[in-house]
Amino acid sequence: MTNWWRDAVVYQVYVRSFADGDGDGIGDLAGIRERLPHLVSLGVDAVWLTPFYPSPMADGGYDVADYRDVDPTFGTLADFDALLARAHELGLRVLVDVVPNHTSDQHEWFAAALAAAPGDPARDRYLFRDGRGERGELPPNDWESVFGGPAWTRVADGQWYLHLFDPRQPDLNWRNPQVRADFREVLAFWLDRGVDGFRIDVAHGMIKHPELPDTGLDEQISLLGHGELPYFDQDEVHEIYRDWRQLFDSYRGERIGVAEAWASTSERLARYVRPDELHQAFNFALLEAPWSAPDFRRVVVESLATTAEVGATTTWVLGNHDVQRPVTRYGDGDLGSRRARAAALFSFALPGSVYVYQGEELGLPEVLDLPDDVRQDPIWTRSGGTDPGRDGCRVPMPWSGDAPPFGFSSGESWLPLPEEWKTATVAEQESSGDSVLRTYRDALALRRAIPALGDGELEWVDTPEGVLAFRRGPDFVCATNFGTEPVALELPGELLCRSDAATGWNGVLPGSTAVWLGKIHEESA
Ligand code: GLC
Repeated sequence: MTNWWRDAVVYQVYVRSFADGDGDGIGDLAGIRERLPHLVSLGVDAVWLTPFYPSPMADGGYDVADYRDVDPTFGTLADFDALLARAHELGLRVLVDVVPNHTSDQHEWFAAALAAAPGDPARDRYLFRDGRGERGELPPNDWESVFGGPAWTRVADGQWYLHLFDPRQPDLNWRNPQVRADFREVLAFWLDRGVDGFRIDVAHGMIKHPELPDTGLDEQISLLGHGELPYFDQDEVHEIYRDWRQLFDSYRGERIGVAEAWASTSERLARYVRPDELHQAFNFALLEAPWSAPDFRRVVVESLATTAEVGATTTWVLGNHDVQRPVTRYGDGDLGSRRARAAALFSFALPGSVYVYQGEELGLPEVLDLPDDVRQDPIWTRSGGTDPGRDGCRVPMPWSGDAPPFGFSSGESWLPLPEEWKTATVAEQESSGDSVLRTYRDALALRRAIPALGDGELEWVDTPEGVLAFRRGPDFVCATNFGTEPVALELPGELLCRSDAATGWNGVLPGSTAVWLGKIHEESA
């Protein structure tokens, strides 16, 4: 056993937007395969691929019509096998995304459910109910869709079905044994092909309160990850993961499950990574924390304590395909860029595993000014155009060249890349000594070389207000200045890495900057 996941650096590839191999303007599996060397030189351990299964793409592929195939837009099963084989040759593990909470409305099961009469077993794979009101004209309860509006849609014969997301994503009934059995086969299908594990979408959602009670709340979505809701994080969901864990453990190699779970407290989140359940759960607390020393410290202390209690490590996440990019979240422009780079160094030095969302290593900001007619996120349409949704963090990767789409595709990209990204391309940043990409590569190489980094203990060092410093082992310190003014620090060690473009270390840490100090032992270098 290597327990590789305990301190793995995992890179999230948003398949549509990473690299386009066939020139149709949409990223695909062949494109990813060609670009794997970028991930090797970045120094990550594993890649998580967002869904690439056949899908009408009502929610960027998180609406799956067939869990055992590849959508033609992204390639074929043979392309998947080739990608997996190449990744393994290069020493990269591969996680695929599974979407068990809901299917697409184009899934054969949903077609069968619609064709069947109320009460038919075909309907029981989903959550169909009669409506309220005299003629059943009102939804069965007051649940809200995460994407806005009611979580119920009525079908021709008058019944309603539940969809916690878009109406084109009907929720499965996980109390139905057929659903459970079929999903086990889906997991086995990918395990047999050799995947190293799964990112589990909406892992907290599969079991709903059996009585489907009203919440009695006017506004439910702000409680996501903060409060209790009868459709999320129900105790019974853990039975499913105990069962899946047995399946994972029955395979050779260490296959893992990573929960995308939103729980009301970090204690409840830690329940997903108990020894007989999943290996990791995304810890979104750092991503949600404002840029401030006390907030970051509180999150670190709490996250480490709650996962340690169940014997797991935590995961550090600054961004993904669902949230505004860190550069923009931390204030945009130069300030946001400095903070995002410092936050990356801070998180890479912490105990546990790290997730990097594609483009973070280039310091990409959120694209805020996409034209309305190219936006594809259902949040945009379901909010009546009041919420721009998540397309701004899904703009394709800039690889090289002087003009959009900067080597992403030989055709026109599905979302336009901003002209300004000319200076942000991988090629451009490779040739510049002080680029974000260089910082990421240096830091991740050091993380591998220094045994005290990754899994293990952390010890806080006393520092002036606004600065956080922690020690890992006797010879390594990470210090981060959350303020805007420089602070003089008395810390031992030589400069290993710093998040700003400066060189050398004179004992003064500029604002919005992180620094790694220490010494590398000969034998570990
Ligand atoms: C997860 C995904 C998100 C998707 C939703 C519904 O939160 O990360 O992109 O829209 O689940 O599947």
